[in-house]
Amino acid sequence: MTTDAIFPLPPVPPSMNLTDRPRRLRRDGLRELVSETTLQPSDLMAPVFVDATADERRAIPSMPGHERVPLDEAVARVEEVLATGVESVILFGIPDAKDPRGTRAWAEDGVIQQATRRITAETDALVATDLCFCEYTDHGHCGVLADGAGADAGSDHADHLTVDNDATLENVRTTAVSQAEAGADVVAPSGMMDGQVGAIREALDGAGFEDVAVMSYAAKYESAFYGPFRDAADGAPAFGDRRHYQMDPANGEEALREVALDVEQGADVLMVKPALPYLDVVRRVDEAVDRPVAAYNVSGEYAMLHAAAEKGWLDLDAVAHESLLSIKRAGADVVLTYFAEAVAERL
Ligand code: PBG
Repeated sequence: MTTDAIFPLPPVPPSMNLTDRPRRLRRDGLRELVSETTLQPSDLMAPVFVDATADERRAIPSMPGHERVPLDEAVARVEEVLATGVESVILFGIPDAKDPRGTRAWAEDGVIQQATRRITAETDALVATDLCFCEYTDHGHCGVLADGAGADAGSDHADHLTVDNDATLENVRTTAVSQAEAGADVVAPSGMMDGQVGAIREALDGAGFEDVAVMSYAAKYESAFYGPFRDAADGAPAFGDRRHYQMDPANGEEALREVALDVEQGADVLMVKPALPYLDVVRRVDEAVDRPVAAYNVSGEYAMLHAAAEKGWLDLDAVAHESLLSIKRAGADVVLTYFAEAVAERL
């Protein structure tokens, strides 16, 4: 008896016919010619943190290389971004004061408004403004609490906490208009309130800002990958969590519903956030809608690569580039990333 009879070999499938050799296209020169995905500085948007409480730059320990800058340094900070070839920034503000409603989010002399005015007057950057209240409320939630409570409501609130959606929408409108008045090119609502895109579009159009675009955080998940950002922007909830308004990481189908609603309400760009653990969602959104898709490579995605690189376990430049390329391959047109400058410089 031969061994063939005991362990019959499967027939060679047609795809293994060695006239078909994919490796031919991997030779230098040819490889570049047939490359399917490109990554350019103009695909990237860099987050910038402006801190009204600071009078000098402060490093953000959990996000190596990133700083909160005082208002006086906002223009200089954006010039640094532009020098790498990245042409757009998204601004986050740390206000001078917090209160239960987050009123400093829409103040004419608010940190975002002042920074936006200076940056748009003095640079050519495309400026997006994050529109959320978690940095501005004393309780750290992304809107007003149902009973108007503040931080002192304490942990009793955690179990039955609700952010009042429709009351928050009023503040969303006011904030969007104040950001547009300051010169924002793009308003980016990230609070996951139902109807926020429609409310913004209506308010902007009503105030004569038809040309200001809305980049909606359409599918924003309740993710543990936001940890370092909450240190950076000082917006951690004082009690409870965000699971009543941000999406359940278990859901993909629901992302398509969120996106469809935002398209209906007039969103110009649809964002998925985080990026790397949700590339399936990026792909599905890209296939489902005929609008540009953005993906937010969040603080935790940045911090973990840095931490591994610090230990000598990963090559930071290589994994950063590969991450952003993969996000684009999945279908993103725009990548918001803390790696923007470092990657752009090497492209
Ligand atoms: C504000 C906001 C958050 C992020 C962007 N906008 C934090 C949050 O929802 O808790 C996270 C960004 C990051 O982790 O890089 N709502």
